[in-house]
This record gives sequence, structure tokens and C-alpha cells, in this order.
Amino acid sequence: MLHNKRILLGITGSIAAYKAALLARELQRRGAEVRVVMTPAATEFITPLTLATLTGHPVSSDFTENKDSGEWTNHVELGLWGDVFLIAPATAQTLSAFVAGSCDNFLQAVHLSSRCPVVVAPAMDLDMFSHPATQSNLNDLRSRKVGIIEPDNGPLASGLEGKGRMAEPAFIADWLDHWFTERAPLKGKKVILTAGPTHEPIDAVRFIGNHSTGKMGYALAVALVEAGAEVHLISGPVQLPPPPGVTSHVKVQTAEQMLDAAMMDFHSFDIAIATAAVADARPANQSKEKLHRDELPDAIQMESTPDILATWGSLRQPHQTIVGFALESDDGIASAMSKLNRKNLDFIVLNSMAHPGAGFGTDTNQITIFGKDGNSHKFDLKSKADVAQDIVAHLLKHLYP
Ligand code: C5P
Repeated sequence: MLHNKRILLGITGSIAAYKAALLARELQRRGAEVRVVMTPAATEFITPLTLATLTGHPVSSDFTENKDSGEWTNHVELGLWGDVFLIAPATAQTLSAFVAGSCDNFLQAVHLSSRCPVVVAPAMDLDMFSHPATQSNLNDLRSRKVGIIEPDNGPLASGLEGKGRMAEPAFIADWLDHWFTERAPLKGKKVILTAGPTHEPIDAVRFIGNHSTGKMGYALAVALVEAGAEVHLISGPVQLPPPPGVTSHVKVQTAEQMLDAAMMDFHSFDIAIATAAVADARPANQSKEKLHRDELPDAIQMESTPDILATWGSLRQPHQTIVGFALESDDGIASAMSKLNRKNLDFIVLNSMAHPGAGFGTDTNQITIFGKDGNSHKFDLKSKADVAQDIVAHLLKHLYP
């Protein structure tokens, strides 16, 4: 769940600040992007250079970038950047400043201007932690929905032993992972997704297929998993590894096999998305053996394959959302609209091969989404991973208007 998450890591002046470097590393190892802000006191315990080198981004600890030039560091931008503002370690002083809404240093200014949720991992001596003032501050923060990662028991820098050690970096990363999972917008939703081409056999070695690589469908599977959905992927023959985190990954060859897999337990799914480039027709006579040159027919008699998406559309129940794709070689608007209605969809994603960088095999795509409410949304040319994020965002707006 930390994959692609933007974590703004705030470090305050505690000896546990040295562990913030390990924490930044652990969060990055799990796929998160990390930016760091520090209080001036924290820079006494660990250098901004260490964190800047580890994260690959400048570290801010002051309102001014460069005192001579008068350039200001934009605390508002940083506050808006993160999916979460994690303060680890969080000193008693910073907890108290958060409760009071103080703005005595740059990190506190970021706190006041951040719109994302805040999580704190306190670190301090045992008596400071158990002091009624600190406990009351933590309760205030809790009531404001600030996440609190409880400190550990154990030896403290003072030589005393007790509760106050900052939780270990791996524990903090696990805690955040669980926290993101609980808050994921598609948590509890079951999604069935078709992807890739189908291959319709002519004989034992030849088939009719198409150029679909499955990249768009697989990128969408990743984005759906990241949004917390339980994803069941049915894929035609592609050269891609299974997307991480999918609950099931069924590989098929033909449209008939894809239909069988797609109808399995169909009514238990909340969302069904058809990105597959399913062959519309197949050879009517398929030889089990390889046909030799002199046995090859002059013409191949074709018959229609089942339309999986239209079958879903005809059997849908009110709780289900159904999404289709249309790949067209012209601008495609009329045929996308006709498929939307004919196949009984909630919305359809049109990608036109008329746009450079869109369609089969590319790493980019350019889409327009048409809804059954008559609205359309055109998106810029983007990587397929970013297009997948746009489609999930659209799906969320559709589910939770
Ligand atoms: O009619 P057309 O093939 O252009 O429709 C495209 C949409 O229908 C896509 O979402 C595709 O996955 C789906 N489809 C399907 N089964 C077929 C043909 C298309 O699910 N046999």
C-alpha cells in the first residue's frame, strides 16, 4: 500500500532523529516517495545532507532557501504535496506546538498549511511521555484524527528504561501500510478485469490475434490494487508479469475461455472492467493438428465470438458498475457512444489510434471517458500508469459522487 504514496517526513529534535534516515530508506524500499522537512533542532542530531542524499530531494528546515537572495521556501506547496505528513520522531515540544497551532518554525508552518492527514511517532523520555500535559496533548491530537504511533518500551537515551523510544522504522512502515489500507477508497470492493488479446486457433500452431500487449489493463490492475480493491485479473496471452497485489490472475487464450472465466461468480463483483482486445470472430473450423501447406484452406470461414462485456451488461445487477474500452482508428466518438448504450455500461474509455502515442503497444495513452449521463472528459497524453490513475479517479467519482 505504500507504493506511489507521497510521504512528507517531518523530523524533530530528538536523539531518535538518527533513525529517520533508516525510516526514509524503508519507506522508499516499499515504493513510497519521501520528502523531508526538519526543525532546526533536528539538524543538530542528523544532517539535512544525509536525508537529502537518501531521498534525492532538498531538505527544508528554514523559511529561507538563501538568506541573501531573499528566496522563500514554499511551505504551502510542501503541505499540499503529501498523502500523509508523518512526524517521526515527534518531540513533546512539537506535539504541544501542534495542539496550540504554533508556527515557530518551518515544520510547524507546513503542519498548519497541510491538507493531508497527520501521523506522529512520539519519542521522548519516559516521564515526559507519561506527563499529563503530553498525554493531554496526544488526546487532543487524537480527537483531531491525528494518527499516533505509540512509542516502544525499552532503554532510553537518559539511561532510564520505560515507554518513550520511537517505534522502530519497520514498525512505522507497517503501521502506515495498514493505515493506508484501512483508508483506501476501494477497500472492500471486488473488481473483475479483462486484459490483453485473445488468440483464436486456426490449427495446432496458427491463430488469429491482434497487437494488444495488455499494458493498459495491467496498469489499471495496479492502480485498482493501490486504491484498495480486491482485483481478479483475467488475461489473454501477454508478456507481462502478474501485477503485484492482485488476488487472482487467470491466463486464457481464447474469447470462449475468457468468457468462462469472466462469468465465474460474476454477481459477486462490484465492478467489472473490460480492457481486453477480444477477437470479434474466430475460425469456424479449428484443426487439432498442424495443417500442412497443401492442407491450408484458401479462405477461412469465420464465426462470431461471444461478447464478454455485452454479456456482463445484459446480466448486471443494480449494485454493479461496468466499464468498457473502445479502441478506434478514427476519432471514434460515435462508435464509443453506441457501445456504451448497446453494452449497457456506466462509462466507456475511448482511445483512438488516430492520436500519436495512443493505442496498442505504446507506453502512453490518450483517453476520453464518456458516461451514460452524457458527460465526457478528455485527458492529455500520459503514461499508461497515469492514465490508469485517471480512470480510477473517475471510477471513484462515479461511485461516490
Ligand atoms: O465492440 P468492441 O470490440 O469494439 O468493444 C470493445 C469493448 O468490448 C472492450 O471493452 C472489450 O474488452 C469488450 N469486448 C468483449 N468481448 C468481445 C469484444 C469486445 O468483452 N468479444
